[in-house]
Amino acid sequence: MKVVTTLQELRACRAELPAPVGFVPTMGYLHEGHLSLVRAARQECASVAVSIFVNPTQFGPQEDLDTYPRDLDRDLKLLRSEGVDLVWTPSREEMYPPGYQTWVTVEDLTLPLEGKVRPGHFRGVTTIVSKLFIAVQPEKAYFGQKDAQQALVIRQMVRDLNFPIEIKICPTVREPDGLALSSRNVYLNADQRKAAPVLYRALRTAQEAYQAGECDAQTLRRIVEETIAREPLARLQYVSCADLGSLQEIEGAVHSPALLSIAVFIGSTRLIDNIILDAPHDIE
Ligand code: PAJ
Repeated sequence: MKVVTTLQELRACRAELPAPVGFVPTMGYLHEGHLSLVRAARQECASVAVSIFVNPTQFGPQEDLDTYPRDLDRDLKLLRSEGVDLVWTPSREEMYPPGYQTWVTVEDLTLPLEGKVRPGHFRGVTTIVSKLFIAVQPEKAYFGQKDAQQALVIRQMVRDLNFPIEIKICPTVREPDGLALSSRNVYLNADQRKAAPVLYRALRTAQEAYQAGECDAQTLRRIVEETIAREPLARLQYVSCADLGSLQEIEGAVHSPALLSIAVFIGSTRLIDNIILDAPHDIE
């Protein structure tokens, strides 16, 4: 496994990789969710490249950029044991040199949900992912359904900018009690960790109601709200039941596949999760 930092080294190593190259962009502090993407890439591609970069431009001024967990040695060990070919750990200076002023923006899909409560977040994500794609030039790139809006925004960007890259969206990996794996789960203390499965429980309760015939979007959102409200350590930031194509909020009956998604504070830790209503499988 080659580990490189500069763009020059990255380009030299990339040129040697057999195609197709599968690429997994990450911010590190890897867990089984990240590794599931690496394994999917390993299965489907001749070479696997992973980037580790805590991208400052996708964090808001009040967010956790400075405390975001990092453990590069551990990450590299994990990636080595998954048979990864190339790891790129770009520097902030090379990604955003002084005077940097170019941005990639996806419009409508970034306005609701995470985009609404994290202004500027997706501009940072789409800009860094474009820069990573241009440098790595993968044939396929892998994203998690855990960050469903992010995956859909990237897919839109790839379509709109004609990146010759196939975007694969892989299922959310969860703890046995349903909590979606996240690098931010380490912020939770023991009591908060016990409370955190309420996110998935709320989504599942609404999904079960939907499957039992309840298709009013407002009622489904209310079921989520009520379940979260019963957990004293949890505070709901938003619940959305939106069209899976446009991410526009559904009023009335859910017909087409819908994304039921939530953001919840457990103490000061912000967690997100989602589930799909009506698709027999996860987003393909
Ligand atoms: P990060 O949070 O490190 O996540 C990297 C990838 O892992 C994303 O595609 C994310 O959706 C996926 N992932 C995280 N938790 C997962 C889980 N429990 N199950 C399955 N997949 C999971 O997302 C980012 O980094 C950044 O925004 C990035 C795309 C790297 C741009 O900076």
